[in-house]
Amino acid sequence: MTLVAPLTEPPGPAGAHANAKAQPEAPLIRLRGIAKRYGSGATELLALQGLDLDVQAGELLAIMGPSGSGKSTAMNILGCLDTPTAGQYLFKGVPVQALSRDQRARLRRRHLGFVFQGFNLLARTSALENVELPLLYRGDSATARRAAALQALASVGLKGWEDHSPAELSGGQQQRVAIARAIVTEPAVVLADEPTGNLDSQRSHEIMGLLLALNRDHGITVLMVTHEPEMAAYARRMVHFSDGRLVRDVQNPRPTTRAPTAEMASAVPTAPPATEAT
Ligand SMILES: Nc1ncnc2c1ncn2[C@@H]1O[C@H](COP(=O)(O)OP(=O)(O)OP(=O)(O)O)[C@@H](O)[C@H]1O
Ligand SMILES: [Mg+2]
Repeated sequence: MTLVAPLTEPPGPAGAHANAKAQPEAPLIRLRGIAKRYGSGATELLALQGLDLDVQAGELLAIMGPSGSGKSTAMNILGCLDTPTAGQYLFKGVPVQALSRDQRARLRRRHLGFVFQGFNLLARTSALENVELPLLYRGDSATARRAAALQALASVGLKGWEDHSPAELSGGQQQRVAIARAIVTEPAVVLADEPTGNLDSQRSHEIMGLLLALNRDHGITVLMVTHEPEMAAYARRMVHFSDGRLVRDVQNPRPTTRAPTAEMASAVPTAPPATEAT
């Protein structure tokens, strides 16, 4: 698996690019003074107010904090789904704010994968087609899309379930499809916003096992928002948000380690149930 595809497009002004190249040891992700304001006047709300964060390639980071503390806002900015009102976001040393809209979209498609609490799958579309979607946007051929999507689904334990639509899958399986969709482009980073928020404890641990395997075995940097200390315990590093700022950054000396493959083997049937209409 190609872990980190090169940022091939010049990010904007030549000077900015030259600067970026001069920082070989720059962290994969650097946020400095990120602010995000919603609304104006009486309805103005500062969702982020000076967020600083460095993430090194290969980290598994848990983001915690009370509701409304800005976690999703930060994830959306990190994922280039939203832009900050102020501050600097460097991805591999490249200033994201200097990128054009198209360049940001390319960065997102090539380097970032998303997993959301609500799975966000297309309802009337098979698991396979859901996973193929990012490759369709990228312009891959039908053959290449199919091969990569089959492989991604197999890697999350869903071999044999490719033709099932989300309605025919459990919550845990839907989240696996969403993870397959997130990794099918071989991103450097997976951003997961409460990926286990809609799942029971066993499914949550299975999903955490998968995220852990992506991180440990495939070198994918994982940033995960969670309200559950048990899920955060998989991460070696935990940061806490409060009122739009990072207020604690702690190392977890004994992160939870599991054998996700053994767990998945017992939890996931290898073949789907019969689907004939009765
Ligand atoms: N699109 C928006 N327009 C206006 N206000 C918003 C918008 N998105 C978020 N907010 C506000 O910004 C603040 C931070 O929201 P955010 O969704 O980042 O919190 P969160 O930490 O993810 O919370 P939760 O744990 O409930 O998911 C909240 O006060 C929220 O109401
Ligand atoms: Mg949120």
